[in-house]
Amino acid sequence: MSDPRLDTSRPHPARRYDYWLGGKDNFEADRESARQIEERMPLVRLTVHENRWFLHRAVRFLAGQGIRQFLDIGTGIPTSPNTHEIAQQIDPTSRVVYADNDPLVLAHARALLTGDKRGRTAYLDADLRDPARILGDPELRGTLDLTQPVALMLIAILHFIRDAEDPRAILDTLIDALPDGSYVVATHVTLEYMTPEEYKAVRAVAEAQSQSRSGAELAELFARPGLTPVGPGVQSVSEWWAEDAPAPRPRVEDVACNGIVMKVNR
Ligand SMILES: C[S@@+](CC[C@H](N)C(=O)[O-])C[C@H]1O[C@@H](n2cnc3c(N)ncnc32)[C@H](O)[C@@H]1O
Repeated sequence: MSDPRLDTSRPHPARRYDYWLGGKDNFEADRESARQIEERMPLVRLTVHENRWFLHRAVRFLAGQGIRQFLDIGTGIPTSPNTHEIAQQIDPTSRVVYADNDPLVLAHARALLTGDKRGRTAYLDADLRDPARILGDPELRGTLDLTQPVALMLIAILHFIRDAEDPRAILDTLIDALPDGSYVVATHVTLEYMTPEEYKAVRAVAEAQSQSRSGAELAELFARPGLTPVGPGVQSVSEWWAEDAPAPRPRVEDVACNGIVMKVNR
């Protein structure tokens, strides 16, 4: 029986993102909403691809730091390579727990669970706004050892949590559960690099779907003792570890997304 949450008459972020990435798991309402945003913000496709490439580089970077456990919240509709494929390419024993609240992502979750047998992947049908439930989930507990370092991945999800939903408290719960040596990685939509004309054109439609935050606001969301930015802190996703990214690099002004990588030092 189909999931009653699967309302295809309204746009949903995972399916709209899938459309921009060139996927086929989206419906007319998603495509219409995507086109509306793209009309006002032609660079949205470049932004989603740059976000995705940031994710690839971040997982490679983390694996290079010895991270073998990943908690990837806001997984999206599977788009290869996913976190587990990149991590397990570097170490097949890597373990990844995915979580998303979109029923369509759940329907595709099997594609995320076919990782290397020497490692392990799990999928939680869960909401970031209930972090205690994610952390307490038996699937998570059976897959990740929370006494050993974990990379918490929040890639292009935090802009769906408005200030009124207290993102800081959500982050407190998740970050408090991470042991010393863990990492936190986030990317976030921002309208700050736009010209005033671009900003005026896109603001209403972008803000109806999500909450844009500036780089300073993103840094502030994560500012807490025991969490240290790696490298220069918040940067455009296009600039982060740019020497390992496909060249030529786009201009920062053309990519409406920031990223940050942080290390947990208890
Ligand atoms: C823009 S996609 C990003 C996918 C992937 N992380 C990436 O960057 O390629 C955002 C994902 O976050 C999920 N999402 C949004 N709000 C969520 C919430 N409150 N709890 C769990 N997942 C959520 C959406 O369903 C969607 O799959």
